Amino acid sequence: MQHFSSNSRRQFLRQTLAFSAASLAGALTSCGKGIIGGASDVAHLLMLGDWGATGQHLDQAAVAAAMQTYTRTHVLNHQALLMLGDNFYGELGSTSSSRWKNQFEDMYPRSIFNCPAYAIPGNHDYIQDNGILRYDVELQYAKTMQTRWTMPSQCYRFLFPALDPLVTFIALDSNIPYADGSTQSGGFFTMSAAQKAAQLQWLSDELKKPLDTPFLIVMAHHPIYSDGPHGDNQSLIDDWDPLLRQHRAHVYLAGHDHDLQHLEFEGHPTSFFCSGGGGSDLYNLRIPSDKRGPYAVKTFGFSHLEVTKSLLTLRHVDQNGNIIHAFTKTPDNELKLIT
Ligand SMILES: [Fe+2]
Repeated sequence: MQHFSSNSRRQFLRQTLAFSAASLAGALTSCGKGIIGGASDVAHLLMLGDWGATGQHLDQAAVAAAMQTYTRTHVLNHQALLMLGDNFYGELGSTSSSRWKNQFEDMYPRSIFNCPAYAIPGNHDYIQDNGILRYDVELQYAKTMQTRWTMPSQCYRFLFPALDPLVTFIALDSNIPYADGSTQSGGFFTMSAAQKAAQLQWLSDELKKPLDTPFLIVMAHHPIYSDGPHGDNQSLIDDWDPLLRQHRAHVYLAGHDHDLQHLEFEGHPTSFFCSGGGGSDLYNLRIPSDKRGPYAVKTFGFSHLEVTKSLLTLRHVDQNGNIIHAFTKTPDNELKLIT
């Protein structure tokens, strides 16, 4: 069974994987200054994963409301959102589905988040609705006029913020074939083995390019390491983790496990940060954070990235707007826990 449209394959092969400042200028219409950091050259974004819940999606709405209140309270002008996958549980339909308005455009309103929303696919985006892959609909929706939904390809690179960038982001598709090589398990599909190999080569090539920003962040839906029920992902440990180490990526962002995590490993330059509390039902943790941490908690919430040229700050924020965990990193990967 074909599990990936020809359109997606073309997009994957297309090497237009860097967003130039010029191409983003239209989308970034209110790049202001925030006050949390107090610096004049600070940039902010919010992220969340596992958010496009079914039914009345009350928990998604609660998290979205908290994001808005948090933004107002701290007087932040965000320059991006990161949508970390499992963007739509349940049937999505087409690019004209009311879910786009109800659960994206209005849920995270332009009046608060007047910025691009960089999206990556989760496993629930690799389900077919009446023979149409949700992910293909998401790729198509990104071409809709006026939307902030930004999903230019299966994997892509962008600079944040677009003007005077501080972070190089590499966005990946972690829906790789299952351990036995199959590309379908029940209703879930994956990319092909050839696409997996091509993406790995692309990642390797991208990481070899000179870094023009003080910070490097890689993001994908599936965690490489997780204290949640999905656990560690051996395929990603084998394929991606050595590259993160070699190129001293500052952070790996993920979702998939419905909780908020921050994991560190002795001698590893990369911080592993999971923000999967966007609105779908929560999971129990498998490993307590006092066994492997420094932080993991079962809660709804979102996360906040603040960055200057000398410091990156990541915060987990619960659905009540409380900052429940925070840490900083320098360009040299010096870590400091705040809360
Ligand atoms: Fe997931």
